[in-house]
Amino acid sequence: DTRETQAHFERTIGRDQRIEPRDWMPDKYRATMVRQIAQHAHSEIIGMQPEGAWITRAPSLRRKAILLAKVQDEAGHGLYLYSAAETLGADRSDLTAKLISGGQKYSSIFNYPTPTFADVGVIGWLVDGAAICNQVPLCRSSYGPYARAMIRICKEESFHQRQGYELLMTLMRGTGAQREMVQDAVNRWWWPSLMMFGPPDADSTHTAQSMAWKIKRHTNDELRQRFVDMTVPQADALGVTLPDPDLRWNEERGHHDFGEIDWSELKRVISGDGPCNAERIERRRKAHEDGAWVREAAAAYAAKHSDSGRE
Ligand code: ACO
Repeated sequence: DTRETQAHFERTIGRDQRIEPRDWMPDKYRATMVRQIAQHAHSEIIGMQPEGAWITRAPSLRRKAILLAKVQDEAGHGLYLYSAAETLGADRSDLTAKLISGGQKYSSIFNYPTPTFADVGVIGWLVDGAAICNQVPLCRSSYGPYARAMIRICKEESFHQRQGYELLMTLMRGTGAQREMVQDAVNRWWWPSLMMFGPPDADSTHTAQSMAWKIKRHTNDELRQRFVDMTVPQADALGVTLPDPDLRWNEERGHHDFGEIDWSELKRVISGDGPCNAERIERRRKAHEDGAWVREAAAAYAAKHSDSGRE
């Protein structure tokens, strides 16, 4: 009966065990999981664009090979995540339609431009660094297929983070102009990277319920603080300045204090009005349309096979 299945769900969460696709779950738990997983998948797919733009212009064969591998990994992450969403009953083509029509979100961070090659390095260092900080705890998320997908994703993200940092180390050992290019990219990406963690806890719609269901293991502000603490020594080692005059170690708290984030910018970018939102969605829409013949051919092939199987 419903009360028993509900109690079973709550006991499973309470014991830190996983909810699996065939288990009973509250409708709101299912809807929250579909929302978060779909947003996450869309972010991986849209996230291919800012760096993909540099594949043909990478300065050496080695850099091109690394960048190609990285962008392919992102496509792979999107695909595992769409599969995880399908275990909840979501339909992949419906999710793509919702992304293209603006009915579902993707991460704010991918709406910023990548005018220089240093952006590739800074995305690896800061954006993928922030992604790791947010996603490592999701390996313990209560929904089994999501948590398991996250293990491999995190391993690949740490390769992405390291390639970015190594690229920046190389540029920092280069000419004055190259060092300036790195500093300029850091200045542009620092604040948007902090915004990736979402609104402050006091304004976060879903955090309390998602923490209770152990979908999220830490709040947005906790992870943001962890990221700042982790990044400051890396910036020192690299020799760049993080663009925040209020950033300093607070002995009493045992954490870095940092300046006020411009939350109006996050709201603007999330609601579709960031520097590259229109371009990103248009590109995704066109890629989807250009791929229609592949989907049709695959469906025709599958239909032919199932016919001959029956004969
Ligand atoms: N960009 C776009 N939308 C955001 C962002 C952001 N950086 N942060 C929060 N939002 C949205 C939320 O999706 C939510 O919108 P909705 O109710 O319409 O779905 C709203 O703002 C309020 O935020 P929260 O209540 O804090 O939402 P939530 O509890 O889902 O926390 C978070 C947001 C931290 C992003 C969470 O969903 C999460 O951990 N997701 C998985 C990680 C992920 O998606 N990463 C993608 C980028 S990393 C990468 O791909 C390299």
